[in-house]
Amino acid sequence: MTTEHGQAVRADGLWRTYERGSETVHALADFSLAVDPGEMVGIVGRSGSGKTTFLNLAGCLDRPTKGKLWIGGNEITGLAEKDLVEFRRDHIGFVFQLFYLIPTLTAVENIRLPMFARRTDEERVHEMAHKVGLDGKLDLRPNSLSGGDRQRIAIARALINQPKVLLADEPTGRLESQARDEVLELFEGLREDGLAIIMATHDLEQADHCDRIIELKDGRMIRETRP
Ligand SMILES: Nc1ncnc2c1ncn2[C@@H]1O[C@H](COP(=O)(O)OP(=O)(O)O)[C@@H](O)[C@H]1O
Ligand SMILES: [Mg+2]
Repeated sequence: MTTEHGQAVRADGLWRTYERGSETVHALADFSLAVDPGEMVGIVGRSGSGKTTFLNLAGCLDRPTKGKLWIGGNEITGLAEKDLVEFRRDHIGFVFQLFYLIPTLTAVENIRLPMFARRTDEERVHEMAHKVGLDGKLDLRPNSLSGGDRQRIAIARALINQPKVLLADEPTGRLESQARDEVLELFEGLREDGLAIIMATHDLEQADHCDRIIELKDGRMIRETRP
């Protein structure tokens, strides 16, 4: 199950096909990609081009119709549901456009949440909160914080279990320009720790922060560029 390659993420000929009535939709078609530790890859393309489909597959939130996928050298394509859930919890961080924080919990409680299955490490919780720039805001609830701060909480929560891969689906889509830049700067800093980041965006300006940009159209990779 484990292979020797040192890639953080590797997809080989991934397909995700949906049947919609009599129509067959290839949300992702023959998609291959390898991402190294510390690399930040942007995935761009119009709405409906397959960005979320790929991130959901890489994030173990969905399964490919065909093809193979490795995260940190572990092949995840054949894992049973229970193992997949555990694998996701321990190895993958995911952030979304809409943050998905728990509104009744404070910032620090949201960040701590994914530790439920292990011993809670308060030092790490506070270190993470500091790293994303939430000092002084730990006891506030999401609805009294700005969008940028909410996304910082979501990023800290995503990283609390020390994943090697961070997947971000339009993470700055709901943020104002200053908060956007701050989130991207934060991502750049995280990369230095060897974290691999894959970010879907339809903002090409943001894609410029990436080492590589993959462009999707109708589920297929049509271009790969280095800014
Ligand atoms: N659950 C689903 N059932 C049917 N079609 C879907 C489903 N999820 C996504 N699709 C289709 O797959 C394609 C890619 O969607 P998506 O990955 O969400 O694109 P993007 O994130 O780039 O906007 C679209 O045509 C979309 O309608
Ligand atoms: Mg999407």
